[in-house]
Formats: sequence, structure tokens, C-alpha cells
Amino acid sequence: MKWSWPWRREAPASVKFSQLGWDVHSHLVPGVDDGAADVDAALEMVRHMVSLGYRGMVLTPHIMSDLYPNSPDTLRGPFDDLIQAVQEAGIPMELRLAAEYLMDADMLRTLKEGEPMTFSCDEGQRRHEMMLMEFGFHHAPDEALVKDALFEAQTRGITPLLAHCERYPYLHKSPALLELWHERGGWMAVNAASLAGAYGPETRNMAKQCMERGWVSFVCSDAHGMRHVRALESLGNSRTVARWMAAGQSLHGGLG
Ligand SMILES: [Fe+2]
Repeated sequence: MKWSWPWRREAPASVKFSQLGWDVHSHLVPGVDDGAADVDAALEMVRHMVSLGYRGMVLTPHIMSDLYPNSPDTLRGPFDDLIQAVQEAGIPMELRLAAEYLMDADMLRTLKEGEPMTFSCDEGQRRHEMMLMEFGFHHAPDEALVKDALFEAQTRGITPLLAHCERYPYLHKSPALLELWHERGGWMAVNAASLAGAYGPETRNMAKQCMERGWVSFVCSDAHGMRHVRALESLGNSRTVARWMAAGQSLHGGLG
């Protein structure tokens, strides 16, 4: 496959996080998955995100039927607790609640019969209801399942957003599934920690290649702990992110 490089050469050498404004993938709802263990841990991350220039975060706890069988009912209470703590601490950060769905039969059932937890994002005049989805890390999802998920989501007016598209090792050699995802209207996000090299050179290279192809709409913290917030901070000198922003591919501004 031939990778293209559509970006302008002249781009700022540093990233202004205040330009991104919103982070759309994080695990800060206290005590519900492998993210923030409690309100204090979440508050530390929120404070640091504010210091980087962020003004809003979409919190996306895992929904996996085996490991984290979350639902709107299990998430709303802990989310409200965090909202209250942020307000009481006077931290200027807006928080919204969505989820990160593992692509499996349960997710498909939620799409067909349930109430998916989504968040809104404007692309020009068009408003998208976004649903964050992830593949398993070890085995490629069945292509028929991926096609069904795209179809069912779009039938409901939902835009599927694939989390950390660079982190699936089985797609590094042949990203045909990502091409299919893109061609059928799915959106993609990468993790800041991948660009910072936290998962090795192959994953970092994959993130860059997906960005260079124009597939990526969001660079996310995927913050489970402070290590991820620091990875985001380390991107302050990332030419890749600066070029991606200069090329107008970021949709972070669509959050408000
Ligand atoms: Fe995540």
C-alpha cells in the first residue's frame, strides 16, 4: 500500500493544547474500570488537563460484557460524584459522559435494541452523534461484525469512532480493516501515548501513517492515570500533531 503525504510543509513546530480544547477519550469516572480508582485520582488528572489548556473532556469508561459490564445505570452515579467534586474544587473543566464499547455481539445488541452512550461533535454545519468503539488487542474482529456495527450505527444516525486505531498489532502489516472502516464512513482516533512512543516504534509509526492518510480526527489522552496525561504533555513539541492540526484534520473544535 502506498502512503500519501497531503500535509502542507509549513506548520508550527509546537502544539497548543488550548487549540484542541476537548479530549474525547478518557477513563476518569472513578472506580468503574481500569482508570481512575477514586475521585482524588480523577481530580489530579482533570487539574493537569486544565493546566495544559483543555477546557472539556468526554469520559469514556469501558463497556465490556466480561470485564466491565457497565451501563448508563452503573456509570451515572460515579460520574455525578466527579462532576460535584470538580465544581466544589472550582476547576474550570466541562465533563461529559459517554463510553468505550468493545466490538462484540453485546455491542451490536446495544446498537440494535439499546441506548448507546454517545457524544455530540459538530463538523461544520453537521452534528454527529459519536460512539467510541474499540477492537480487541489480540485478535482481529470478524469483518462481518465490523460491517454490521458500521451499518447499524449509521442506520441510527450514529458516527462510529474507532479508538486507538494504531494499537492493533494484527493491523500493522495489513491495515485493510482500517481502510474498510474509513471507506464506510467510520472515524478514527489515535492515542497521545502512542505518538509519544509508549507502545514502541511500530505503534508510533502506525499512528503517524494513519494521520498522514487523513484518517484521524482526534488525538486522545485515553487517560487511565497520570502517565497518560504526561504522555499528552510530552507532545508539546510534536511536529506530527502540529502538521495534522495545520492540515485541518482535527475535529476537536467540534465539541464546543
Ligand atoms: Fe480507552
